[in-house]
Amino acid sequence: MAARSISILGSTGSIGTSTLDLINCNRSRFSVAALTAYNNIDLLIEQVRVFKPQLAVIGDETHYDRLKTALQGSATEAAAGRAAIIEAAEVPSDFVMAGIVGAAGLKPTLAAVRRGAIVGLANKECLVCAGDLIMKEVAKHGATLLPVDSEHNAIYQVFDFEQAKSVRKIILTASGGPFRSSSLEVMRKATPEQAVLHPNWDMGAKISVDSATMMNKGLELIEAYHLFPVAKDQVEILVHPESVVHSLVEYEDGSFLAQLGSPDMRTPISYALNWPKRMNVAVDRLDLAKIRTLNFETVDGTRFPAVEMARHVLMVGGSAPVILNAANEIAVRGFLERKIGFLDICNIVGEVLAIIDQSEITSVGEVIEVDELARNKAKTLMNGLEV
Ligand SMILES: NC(=O)c1ccc[n+]([C@@H]2O[C@H](COP(=O)([O-])OP(=O)(O)OC[C@H]3O[C@@H](n4cnc5c(N)ncnc54)[C@H](OP(=O)(O)O)[C@@H]3O)[C@@H](O)[C@H]2O)c1
Repeated sequence: MAARSISILGSTGSIGTSTLDLINCNRSRFSVAALTAYNNIDLLIEQVRVFKPQLAVIGDETHYDRLKTALQGSATEAAAGRAAIIEAAEVPSDFVMAGIVGAAGLKPTLAAVRRGAIVGLANKECLVCAGDLIMKEVAKHGATLLPVDSEHNAIYQVFDFEQAKSVRKIILTASGGPFRSSSLEVMRKATPEQAVLHPNWDMGAKISVDSATMMNKGLELIEAYHLFPVAKDQVEILVHPESVVHSLVEYEDGSFLAQLGSPDMRTPISYALNWPKRMNVAVDRLDLAKIRTLNFETVDGTRFPAVEMARHVLMVGGSAPVILNAANEIAVRGFLERKIGFLDICNIVGEVLAIIDQSEITSVGEVIEVDELARNKAKTLMNGLEV
């Protein structure tokens, strides 16, 4: 059987490196077509030496000369800049891992969808911003979108698409993050180091902070609505601190189907990478007798207002999710750069949502316009808070 060729958008990130780890353990099954990074030139060069893709792209153009020099005499073409990342998505590989963080992943992901590729979707922000547009393009170009986010991957594994009407609810599980049992006072003083220390998962900085505010679960609520044929009020969230049950689907006959596993992204990534077949992955096996107890609780909306904010923008639709996502990206960066406090993140998102009038979204151009507007408003509010 011919090896499946893989392009990785965001190869230097947490999702990207886990994907390459799986490829490395299965060299006869996969080949690498294109790799992209933004800043981490050293790691990108190292990855190119090991995996020998056709194309390697660095987003930040100031690193272009280094990349070109390092790849001289090799079979890998070097390129730089945003347009080149889109070109990487257009390289005719079988599978594209959409592993860029944030709305920056929107255009490259769309480019992969528009050439009808199998797309492993980790980049949830692009579905939050442009879910309707992306899903239309998926249908139009016959692309296959496979959720990589562990919760959505779990649902994908147990969702009966042929009997979608018999689904009563999708239940997304949430670890609750590092501040699940912390007081508001503790959260107010939380540092970036504390916020990125996720109890169960090892992830990039932005998603780790999103998990700490639970905005991650809010974004996932919107993502789930776009990925599965359910109504907006059929998606629920349940806090499950052990991160063993990765999500559930409730059917009308009273059955709840769930996918369980150790919290290791290599399981959902492998499911997408080798779809429709499963493959052997060296993850820690679940030992339920050792775990003994699994806990579940509802979300505390007072300490974690992000979840209700996300539900609200999902209901409103149009530009509201774009505003929420853009303001959140800016506020999270501000928090990581110690410009604002932890609780300011959700306050800023709420304020930006209140300031900007919502509108219909009919094109990617409109998404980008609203995204820029919301980013600017968030930056202005943040400057007012800076100490
Ligand atoms: N990590 C997880 O376990 C996990 C689980 C579920 C879903 N996800 C989702 O997967 C996505 C990636 O998460 P991650 O944790 O892997 O993030 P990450 O570790 O921060 O990696 C992000 C990747 O995107 C690249 N990048 C950053 N900004 C970019 C830009 N403006 N343009 C192009 N490329 C850019 C980075 O390049 P440099 O390294 O060169 O900066 C890096 O390769 C996110 O949407 C996240 O929500 C992640």
